[in-house]
Amino acid sequence: MSITREAFGSDFAWGVSTAAYQIEGAHCTNGKGPSIWDVFANTKGKIVNNHNGNISCNFYDNYCRDLSLAYHLNIQNFRLSLSWSRIFPKGTGKVNRDGVDYYNRVIDFCNEIGIVPWITLYHWDLPNELEVKGGWTNRDIVNWFNEYVAFCIKTLGDRVTNWMVLNEPMVFTGAGYFLGIHAPGKKGLNNFLAAAHHAALAQASGLRIIKSEAPKCNAGTTFSTSYIEPFSQSENDIGAAFKVDALLNRFFLEPLLGLGYPLKDLKFLQRIEQFIKPNDEADLIAGSDFIGLQIYTREIVKYSPYIPLINAKIIKADQRNVDRTVMNWEVYPESMYHMLKKFSRYNAIKEIIVTENGAAFPDEILDGKVEDIKRTNYLRENIKQLLRAKNEGVNVNGYFVWTLMDNFEWQEGYTPRFGLVHVDFATHKRTIKSSGYWYQKFLTDSARDIPVHRSKIVTTI
Ligand code: GAL
Repeated sequence: MSITREAFGSDFAWGVSTAAYQIEGAHCTNGKGPSIWDVFANTKGKIVNNHNGNISCNFYDNYCRDLSLAYHLNIQNFRLSLSWSRIFPKGTGKVNRDGVDYYNRVIDFCNEIGIVPWITLYHWDLPNELEVKGGWTNRDIVNWFNEYVAFCIKTLGDRVTNWMVLNEPMVFTGAGYFLGIHAPGKKGLNNFLAAAHHAALAQASGLRIIKSEAPKCNAGTTFSTSYIEPFSQSENDIGAAFKVDALLNRFFLEPLLGLGYPLKDLKFLQRIEQFIKPNDEADLIAGSDFIGLQIYTREIVKYSPYIPLINAKIIKADQRNVDRTVMNWEVYPESMYHMLKKFSRYNAIKEIIVTENGAAFPDEILDGKVEDIKRTNYLRENIKQLLRAKNEGVNVNGYFVWTLMDNFEWQEGYTPRFGLVHVDFATHKRTIKSSGYWYQKFLTDSARDIPVHRSKIVTTI
């Protein structure tokens, strides 16, 4: 079965997703303050091969060229994040005008060439000055974040309609404050639960601020999701899968929707109550125009009495000998369908946007080309599953590929390549992969309805 863009309707938003730390580089340029990722990635032993995002794709200097590339691929929506410490080098207080000007230029350029910017306010790169004060474990972060959000909306809200508050709170609190494998490298249950509660308060207050400063804009926030299935039909495995689902898929979403934290289903979460103050339950709730879901894979969960707190373990793709990506994530496109159906059952979700979906494979340049058939298949099959859910009535109205070009993949460094465009990190040369050409063809130019200043487009890669 082949699919066409038309089947999704003319209002469906097609795009690509990126994040500041993963693409920008220019880590200490023009007044930018250090973020926790600058510090973490420049600490020996934290990142595979000791890679860091100091230069990365240097999108900071190349944004005209890279956005022009997106234009050539018929991509009409570009999700990017703002680096908080480029705007507020110390997190609060004095604004760095050069940083604001940079984002003004990027946004103006998007609008001039007919690409709609979708901005994530927080994609993990907390200003390091705030981490020195405890970062997400310090309740003051909600006020620091509110100041930053209000400033961004007031400054950019006249030219940007689509806003997302947080990128995947479960990942940056879990990996950053419980496991210690992401910045800032903190560990332990108390750090995690404090960070999680403050992130949940910030996601709600961020949404309220966006709506009060710019009532007409389209405001949402994003969540990591995984389709969870039990290893067997034993009561133990079913119970373990239920708990992992509560942690990975429900923990941050349900309080936002007014359902509270899933404390009954996940006993250890009850210790979060020590961080909850009067009125917090109401403050965790906020309306949003859409919910962003990042859907990549399926996880198989088995009961394990040896795993503390949750008594469950994930059986990774290589242990199951199934088709997988460089990240050891199972290639299982049906996850897209199941997750869209699952989240559509929440009445309070008005609209779903798939804000990330993609795959890392070991791409190689041969004769100047990258034939990444596996990525094309992955994207096509996921998009088919999205259409299946949409045709069954799920209100999903956007899809963003992770990602435009190969970039810094957090603790994995530059080895996993997720891009539609290959980046040679030594020369910064960009090469469109066959998956990029596939997406270009799928999108076609005919649906472009935004006026374009063609003279602005950069024609050389
Ligand atoms: C998401 C994250 C992105 C990107 C992607 C691929 O969790 O938001 O920044 O790294 O995964 O791993």
